[in-house]
Amino acid sequence: MHRPTHSLGRIFAYTAAGVLAAAALSLTAAPTDPESPIRLGSNENAFGYTPKAKDAMIAAIESGNYYNRNEVDEMVKIAAAKEGVQPDFIYPTAGSGPVLELTAAAFSKPGLNIVTTTPGYPQLTGAFTKWGGTIKYTPVDAKMGYDFAALAAAIDENTAVVYICNPNNPTGVLADPAELRKFVMTAPPHVLVFVDEAYLELADSGLMPNTVAPLVKLRRNLIVSRTFSKAYALAGLRAGYGIGHPDTLAKLRKYDLGLAPSFLAAIAAQEAMKDQEYMELNRKRYAEVRNYTKKQLDRLGLAYADPQGAFILFKSGMDSAEVVKKMLAENIMVTRPFGIAPGDEPKYADWVRVSLGNMEEMQLFVSALEKTLGKN
Ligand SMILES: Cc1ncc(COP(=O)(O)O)c(C=O)c1O
Repeated sequence: MHRPTHSLGRIFAYTAAGVLAAAALSLTAAPTDPESPIRLGSNENAFGYTPKAKDAMIAAIESGNYYNRNEVDEMVKIAAAKEGVQPDFIYPTAGSGPVLELTAAAFSKPGLNIVTTTPGYPQLTGAFTKWGGTIKYTPVDAKMGYDFAALAAAIDENTAVVYICNPNNPTGVLADPAELRKFVMTAPPHVLVFVDEAYLELADSGLMPNTVAPLVKLRRNLIVSRTFSKAYALAGLRAGYGIGHPDTLAKLRKYDLGLAPSFLAAIAAQEAMKDQEYMELNRKRYAEVRNYTKKQLDRLGLAYADPQGAFILFKSGMDSAEVVKKMLAENIMVTRPFGIAPGDEPKYADWVRVSLGNMEEMQLFVSALEKTLGKN
């Protein structure tokens, strides 16, 4: 089975008019490997990034013999203006992953703990355990969203960090903005609150009403992370940043082994931030495939958590390892939920996370799922 985007790409490639038509339609991003299964496992953006970033990178590529000069500084300036903070509140990195990893390096040590939810995104919490600390999990609420009372109750004198991913990965549920703000502002001062907003641009209500980035001016012990990998579709280029008080970011810098974005990634990130219109277009595309996929899951009678990111967590009714295997046999990658507290696994035994691809990919996902679950 071919990825539909490839076959369309091939048809378009045969004529000059086709090339123009493909560009005008902006069908999808170029696949990295035409033979690979449909990638609905890693929350990559199938729609691609702004053509302005591509043009700017092509124009700059001849300068690859020089080290990064002003490109990252310029990226930081634009990010700072966008976030409404001074440039020294921005820590630029190759994707947002390094901000999570550096936070673990700077804040973890044996005897300390990190408080988070089960299930949850495990990059910071996993790194926290590598540096000697432990994880204290609290369950998500009945709707698979954040239970802030439970998070607050789990904090003790040995808690170094609380990790919140909003919307949460892998459940996709968005936190109530007032409750999140209250939590951030009332968490004990010795605790670093880390809010990972990797998918926030894609929430139905968008980034602005939900982001807690402005609170870095009020709370020193707060880091918010942002990535260009999701709504801005620059995952392979690697750009992201942390937002926090300079004194807090200084703690991370001590562990930095050279994790800045490359000059090309910094150039692409600048263009991505400047072209908000393109990001809005991608938001709309995501909303469209999300609505389509929700309707299909409804039709199949499958429950799912309210999806506000680039993916949907649904209850398949079949062992999820089996679903992943069978879907792969149908050429489609999906994943099992992760970041689950020990002992909590049975609750998620039949839940599966599917990333939102383009419409054709989601249509193929639905038919493969029907076949896998015997619903065809
Ligand atoms: C919630 C969350 N945070 C952070 C990341 C790290 O991604 P990146 O390093 O590409 O910004 C991911 C990647 O999937 C993610 O899902």
